[in-house]
Amino acid sequence: MHVRELFDLTRRVAIITGGSLGLGRQMAEGLAEMGADLVLCARKKERCEQAADELRKLGVRVLPVACDVTKPNDIQSLVEETLNEFGRIDVLVNNAGISWGAPVEEMRLLDWSRVIETNLTGTFLCAQAVGKVMLGKHRGKIINIASVAGLSGTPAEVLQATAYHASKGAVISFTKDLACKWAPHNIQVNAVAPGWFPTHMSDWSIKNKQELLLQNIPQNRFGGKDDLKGAVVFLASDASAFVTGHVLVVDGGQSAL
Ligand SMILES: NC(=O)c1ccc[n+]([C@@H]2O[C@H](COP(=O)([O-])OP(=O)(O)OC[C@H]3O[C@@H](n4cnc5c(N)ncnc54)[C@H](OP(=O)(O)O)[C@@H]3O)[C@@H](O)[C@H]2O)c1
Repeated sequence: MHVRELFDLTRRVAIITGGSLGLGRQMAEGLAEMGADLVLCARKKERCEQAADELRKLGVRVLPVACDVTKPNDIQSLVEETLNEFGRIDVLVNNAGISWGAPVEEMRLLDWSRVIETNLTGTFLCAQAVGKVMLGKHRGKIINIASVAGLSGTPAEVLQATAYHASKGAVISFTKDLACKWAPHNIQVNAVAPGWFPTHMSDWSIKNKQELLLQNIPQNRFGGKDDLKGAVVFLASDASAFVTGHVLVVDGGQSAL
């Protein structure tokens, strides 16, 4: 097959959780630029609708859906609405995520649990619900958005987000195990581990710790508006048919130090 065809996503259907803004919005744009129809979901539907209006200009169909990834009923509706609209699901990008800043010794159980429930349990619940559809079709691509924070620790002066680190480390383990479990069913499960990208989530750290953060990024810059597109398109497309259980790091060299 020609390599352009391997990367082509025309008529594929991709669900992107947390696709309304930030990295999810960027990845949605990349997938749409390669021809994929999109389902964008987040808790605030109006922000999904706004992103959908913009992305439709690329000539693809976009369905905005309200969905909280910690709620199994919401996820079931997301799957049903997607199937009603498009009749198929080819790609799931588990991107919805949150963080909470507090020293370990002061972190409240409530805040720890909220991060784990969204980043880890939400990823599991969406993979499970969409996976059932993919298992029936004997094909699919699941892309879990982890983080370089899931690969190692961080000094307290750089980042105080232990629940976030733990959740992303677990997302990587989950990715590897699910990849093994579903490999015989032709479902590839991979993770992307971004470094620092300016978004709503990273806003405080990037504003207040810019110099410190850049010292630890060999490319001496933060991720930009196109830097994740290639990674997600590769893992969503037939170009990665023999890639599963992989963690694709996109961090300007941060984890190479
Ligand atoms: N920015 C970085 O530097 C960076 C680095 C590494 C990894 N990441 C990861 O990349 C992903 C996206 O982060 P971001 O920086 O783009 O964050 P962001 O700008 O804060 O966007 C988060 C997205 O997730 C949605 N979301 C949050 N909780 C949700 C829930 N319970 N159910 C459904 N949607 C939910 C938000 O919409 P609603 O609020 O409307 O629900 C929003 O669309 C996260 O998994 C994050 O951990 C980010």
